[in-house]
Amino acid sequence: MRRAVCPGSFDPVTNGHVDVITRAAALCDELVVAVLVNPGKAGLFSVDERMDLLRDAVSDLSNVTVDSFEGLLVDYCTAHGIPVIVKGLRAVGDFEYELQMAQMNRELAGIETLFVPTAPQVGHLSSSLVKQIATFGGDVSSLVPKAVNDRLIAKAEGRRP
Ligand code: PNS
Repeated sequence: MRRAVCPGSFDPVTNGHVDVITRAAALCDELVVAVLVNPGKAGLFSVDERMDLLRDAVSDLSNVTVDSFEGLLVDYCTAHGIPVIVKGLRAVGDFEYELQMAQMNRELAGIETLFVPTAPQVGHLSSSLVKQIATFGGDVSSLVPKAVNDRLIAKAEGRRP
C-alpha cells in the first residue's frame, strides 16, 4: 500500500489512536494523519495544539506526517493523491457509521477504506471520555501520551477557581 490517510478529530490524540496509527504505518509507505478543521465545533484543543500533540506522539514513526484538512475528506485525498483511508474500529458500535462513511467515500471519489481493529487494551478509549475524566481531576496518564496528559492537567488546573 502506498499513501494512506488516517483522519480524525484527535481532540486530543489517545493511546488508542497511537495504536491504530502505528499499525497502519507498518502497512503503507507513507501515512498522513489528518486533523479535521471543523469551524462549527470548538474543541478543547485548537487544531494547532492537536497537530503538535500528534507530531510528538508519532515522532518515532519515520513514515508518518501530520496535516489538517477542512471540508470533504475525499477532496483532501484526491488533492494529495491518497487512494486509501485507514480507520480504527473499537467495537460494533463504531461499525455502522464507519461502514456508511466508507461506502459513501467510495461512491463519491472511489477512495477505499481499510479498517484496523484496535488492540483490546485500548478498545474502550475515546477522546471524549478522556476529556471528561481529566476535566474532573481523574487520572488519564495510562490512556494518553505523556505530553497530552500534561496538557490536560494544565487545562484542568486553569479552569479551577
Ligand atoms: O475522530 P472523528 O471525529 O470520529 O473523525 C471523523 C472524521 C473527521 C473522519 C469524519 O467526520 C470526516 O471524514 N469528516 C470530513 C467531512 C466529510 O468528508 N464528510 C463526509 C463523510 S462520508
